[in-house]
Amino acid sequence: MAKSSDTATQASSQATKIAPARGKLGVMIPGMGAVATTFMAGVEAVRKGIAEPIGSLTQMGTIRLGKRTDGRSPKIKEFVPLAGLNDIEFTGWDIFEEDAYESAMHAAVLEKDLLNQIKPFLKSIQPRKAVFDRNYVKKLDGKHVKKGKSKRDLAEQLRDDIRDFKKTSGADRLIMIWCGSTEIFLERGEVHSSVKAFEKGLDKNDENIAPSMIYAYAALSEGVPFANGAPNLTVDIPAMMELSRKNNAPIAGKDFKTGQTLMKTILAPGFKARMLGLNGWFSTNILGNRDGEVLDDPGSFKTKEESKLSVLEQILQPSLYPQLYKDFYHKVRINYYPPRGDNKEGWDNIDIFGWLGYPMQIKVDFLCRDSILAAPIALDLVLFLDLAQRSEHLRGIGIQEWLSFYLKSPMTAPGLYPEHDLFIQLIKLKNTLRHLRGEPLITHLGLEYYD
Ligand SMILES: NC(=O)c1ccc[n+]([C@@H]2O[C@H](COP(=O)([O-])OP(=O)(O)OC[C@H]3O[C@@H](n4cnc5c(N)ncnc54)[C@H](O)[C@@H]3O)[C@@H](O)[C@H]2O)c1
Repeated sequence: MAKSSDTATQASSQATKIAPARGKLGVMIPGMGAVATTFMAGVEAVRKGIAEPIGSLTQMGTIRLGKRTDGRSPKIKEFVPLAGLNDIEFTGWDIFEEDAYESAMHAAVLEKDLLNQIKPFLKSIQPRKAVFDRNYVKKLDGKHVKKGKSKRDLAEQLRDDIRDFKKTSGADRLIMIWCGSTEIFLERGEVHSSVKAFEKGLDKNDENIAPSMIYAYAALSEGVPFANGAPNLTVDIPAMMELSRKNNAPIAGKDFKTGQTLMKTILAPGFKARMLGLNGWFSTNILGNRDGEVLDDPGSFKTKEESKLSVLEQILQPSLYPQLYKDFYHKVRINYYPPRGDNKEGWDNIDIFGWLGYPMQIKVDFLCRDSILAAPIALDLVLFLDLAQRSEHLRGIGIQEWLSFYLKSPMTAPGLYPEHDLFIQLIKLKNTLRHLRGEPLITHLGLEYYD
């Protein structure tokens, strides 16, 4: 039977070592805006039994094990040892002094009625002073900001914050997840090339070191895994990859895959699977939250645009399918439109062609809620990064490519192209979990059912 099984028999048959999720997990969030407060409030609402964790694979997803006839599909959270929601403690940083309750009211994603039911919890999360510099986010200005002699000094202050939170919260393990604003576009340079070069740059206040990198450096130096929910370069540089591996602190990034890009990575693999061609894809959005305001600045928009544009090129592989995808036109627009708040509307006009080159059009009008889509991603990234750090196999490898499923511009090992297809990403994620637990990988071959 083994020669025609739909599970890969070469898979490791021994479970790998994963330390149990004992004690509390401290979640540290630079940027206590719409996404962060929707995430924190959501976790508390679920803990109190007020709402369900819809959209979270770790909380609702199952994983098939063995043959289709085996009937084994445990919940993911029962299959691998994840931290429980009741064990999560939060802290955050922001350039504004608003606590999580005020910030959530301001963001206006969740209803007041829900927020009021968990008000004491949200009130208790006060932002720490941020490391911030207007040169990297032009549209924002806040006073709740640390002062320091150098970027090195600021990194040390963040390390103090991390140690303080660990002590006061009683957390056994920590995770940092960037939910701060999108910074201006930066490219990899000399200062990012190694930990040594980066540390020299911290001392010299190198302008290619953005605030998000200072947080990441502080976290990884303290052995704390780091996820990047924004498209900033942040941990996508050799210096951070080196630090991550050295300190067994896994990293994942960049940019939460929500809204329009989520739709793109669902639709485009379908077109390619059926060998349908693409002439053009025009995407435009209106949104009115603070994120929209920040993205109104060309510097921040460029960072986001790069993240959003790369997706189609990688999925459609024009070099392999020139008749179908050579020279397709791809445009992404984001328009700041205050009346909509967090309730973004994203339009896509997709010009495809089929048999004998006959053209067709598809229109997508997604009335989505940005932070409602992002919050479960933040939760899953936090729980899986914590799992990765407790896993003997994963803790020392740096980039956790198996978490690409959640990200618009997945980070990869040097020389690899990122996998954007949502369904391949899901297979990769689940096979990673099977591998960790010594279960055969699922190949979907399935010939044995017909022997
Ligand atoms: N909402 C989504 O669906 C989604 C999807 C993908 C990516 N993102 C990204 O996630 C991030 C957060 O989005 P949001 O909608 O919550 O935005 P937001 O504007 O509501 O929140 C961002 C917060 O970060 C704070 N901030 C900025 N720089 C900071 C710094 N250096 N230190 C500490 N705090 C800082 C701001 O004051 C603000 O409160 C953005 O970068 C956004 O592009 C969001």
